[in-house]
Amino acid sequence: MDKARIVEVGPRDGLQNEKGVIPLATKVELVQRLAESGLSTIEAGAFVSPKWVPQMADTAALLATLDLGGPVHYPVLVPNDRGLDAALEAGVREIAVFGAASEAFSQKNINATISESLKRFESVMHRAQQAGIRVRGYVSCVVGCPYEGEVAPRKVAEVAAELHAMGCYEVSLGDTIGVGTPRQVQAMLEAVMRTVPVERLAGHFHDTYGMAVANIHAAYAAGVRTFDASVAGLGGCPYAQGASGNVATEDVAYLLHGLGVETGIDLSRLVATAWFIADALGRAPASRVAHALGRP
Ligand code: HMG
Ligand code: MG
Repeated sequence: MDKARIVEVGPRDGLQNEKGVIPLATKVELVQRLAESGLSTIEAGAFVSPKWVPQMADTAALLATLDLGGPVHYPVLVPNDRGLDAALEAGVREIAVFGAASEAFSQKNINATISESLKRFESVMHRAQQAGIRVRGYVSCVVGCPYEGEVAPRKVAEVAAELHAMGCYEVSLGDTIGVGTPRQVQAMLEAVMRTVPVERLAGHFHDTYGMAVANIHAAYAAGVRTFDASVAGLGGCPYAQGASGNVATEDVAYLLHGLGVETGIDLSRLVATAWFIADALGRAPASRVAHALGRP
């Protein structure tokens, strides 16, 4: 049976955009339930400036409640050396650096040009490698940018290749504002796959236009086997006006299971988790599958 890996990003990409304060206990329960739903990689938070993204300020406190040496991986975002210091202190085994294929987005998101950001990551990468920590790389705006419009596949391939050459074990390609359609995704992947082996790529689709599941299907057909997703379709990006959440994990699991692909996910537990976090946030899950299967 074919296998795919789903990287759950709800506690980070999902919750980073929430306006209200989410109690730490809710985050802890969310992460526990996600692990019990069979997710083996759960991006738990971000060591970024709390002035930029206040929701991630309790990342260290959340990590302190988790078994960081166990079978489930809990990576966190790290933008610079200061973030890495915090990650090392928290005892994480994996971090993710995040860059962009668009200059304007890079400035708004991390206050750096693309080349400045890659320089920052080199130092982070070097120190992480010395500490035995795995590093994942993100490229944002792989088909479109909220400030610059369409993004050339060549530009995505360049940034992805730099992250890979630097030592990122995987490069996650983000349609940050969810504007892509399968044809664009296919063209972008064709360009990127000339510079980075497909086994080292992940798809990270937001669902603004409802195209994320179709884009995942296109990426799957191109050979991608790792997909980022967010339970209940939580999220958005604070630096991408109008962007909706990630594709919902339960929708991706339903698609992949329907294709005969093993994910390790227990769909009914995952749907219960989607309702749990949606109730905690006072709204309905943004996924189709959570509604189709209903509240447990
Ligand atoms: P800056 O203002 O250029 O940097 O921010 P700075 O060095 O001047 O620092 C500003 C303040 O932040 C200082 O504090 C620093 O100490 C502090 P002050 O002296 O003013 O009190 N600071 C930090 N605090 C905690 N942890 C740190 C840290 N670094 C500096 N690591 C910086 C530059 C990168 C820090 C800032 O722009 C930032 O934190 N950006 C994060 C933005 C972010 O988290 N965006 C969302 C995640 S990316 C995403 O969602 C896309 C993705 O999902 C893929 C996709 O969908 O495409 C991954
Ligand atoms: Mg994202």
